[in-house]
Amino acid sequence: MKKFAGCSLVVSFAPTGSNILKNNGRFPLVISRRNKFSYRLFSTRVLKAQLHDKPGVVSRYYLPPWFSVAPMMEWTDNHYRTLARLISKHAWLYTEMVAAETIVHQKDNLDRFLAYSPDQHPIVLQIGGSNIENLAKATELANAYCYDEINLNCGCPSPKVAGHGCFGVSLMLNPKFVAEAMSAIAATTNVPVSVKCRIGVDDHDSYSELCDFIYQVSSFSPTKHFIIHSRKALLNGISPAENRSIPPLKYEYFYGLLRDFPDLTFTINGGITSVEEVLAAREAGAHGVMVGRAAYTNPWHILGHVDSAIYGTPSPDLTRRQVLEKYLTYGESVMGKYGRRPTMRDIVKPLLNLFHSEPGNGLWKRKADAAFKNCTTVESFFEETLVAIPDSVLDSPVAKLPPGRRDLFANIDNLLPPPYKTREEEAVVICA
Ligand SMILES: Cc1cc2nc3c(=O)[nH]c(=O)nc-3n(C[C@H](O)[C@H](O)[C@H](O)COP(=O)(O)O)c2cc1C
Repeated sequence: MKKFAGCSLVVSFAPTGSNILKNNGRFPLVISRRNKFSYRLFSTRVLKAQLHDKPGVVSRYYLPPWFSVAPMMEWTDNHYRTLARLISKHAWLYTEMVAAETIVHQKDNLDRFLAYSPDQHPIVLQIGGSNIENLAKATELANAYCYDEINLNCGCPSPKVAGHGCFGVSLMLNPKFVAEAMSAIAATTNVPVSVKCRIGVDDHDSYSELCDFIYQVSSFSPTKHFIIHSRKALLNGISPAENRSIPPLKYEYFYGLLRDFPDLTFTINGGITSVEEVLAAREAGAHGVMVGRAAYTNPWHILGHVDSAIYGTPSPDLTRRQVLEKYLTYGESVMGKYGRRPTMRDIVKPLLNLFHSEPGNGLWKRKADAAFKNCTTVESFFEETLVAIPDSVLDSPVAKLPPGRRDLFANIDNLLPPPYKTREEEAVVICA
């Protein structure tokens, strides 16, 4: 049992009597029923009493967020995070963005939106919203779930979000509001608070405007950690997906911030697709590196190297068969927990990328398509589909670190924007 400052974590879902592990044959064999329901979500019912006196107090013993998996709506749900944690012990995991209004209005139904397994620590809750009272209230309600950090979304360009009520990336245009919101959020929790933002919005894309935002938010609120998506957002005309590929990456802005705000910590995000690139970003000085799409679409080859290559610690050292076995126990225990959800499809979805570019991957996906129509349990889904994957793939550990652009930031110092001067500093220069 792990002991944390504010939470006593007693939950485990690792099966002890697995038959799959002992068998070199096909998937799956007889599943140990003993532990089938041992996977419990991090429920307020379990923890409220312990946390009552110390809202938001959680462990400080995790390794730092040198590597994190980005918040991604409909992707980084409980199921994906469960899979991710089986592959990497130390990666920091972000939730999908949860709207503050959802938390406030669903306060009697919070487990559905906020519960997670304690194995998922270190975990950051990302919230979104434009109403300071609701952001603070939502944070307060989330305290019972012991998230390790609260992050405010100031980067989402979706018209559903940014277009209504100054939410998501639109907030970057109002740093005073963000500072007030972050102060209100921080006042209701003891865990660190952070902001995830873009490098700019529409024509507000100069380095000094980005610095003004960082300066104001960090000076007038307790926010000392910023996650910087190194592309600006275009609010008119392009989709959220295009907003993640069309505006050019400007890593030089990120490294400019590192130089100009030495008292803050910055995590770089955007376009990083391999562990070699993560290492390159860290070598160039980034405090942390956040990976989104690559960690979702290729979890085995990205997350499988995080513990050893980035944290210098032993990896969980599981094969994919062992990961799937543990995941099966999880999946069967949560299926239909909230009425019809999660469905088998919800639960299996993050697994569909586990065999990225491996022999049998195409056939496994085709079999999965068919199995979704006639399988009602994760176990039967595995039985029907995993015959497509060779044993050599299922039973091999994570391969050698694949090549990547280790020189991605080699030239960054020559590209940095001119040093930032605050308006006060500029005024002093003009008057002098
Ligand atoms: C499907 C999807 C959903 C996303 N949802 C969120 C979100 O809820 N909150 C957020 O701050 N960013 C969200 N993002 C943006 C990512 O967090 C990240 O900033 C972006 O994908 C760039 O990183 P990458 O190039 O490593 O993918 C989402 C991205 C994707 C692909």
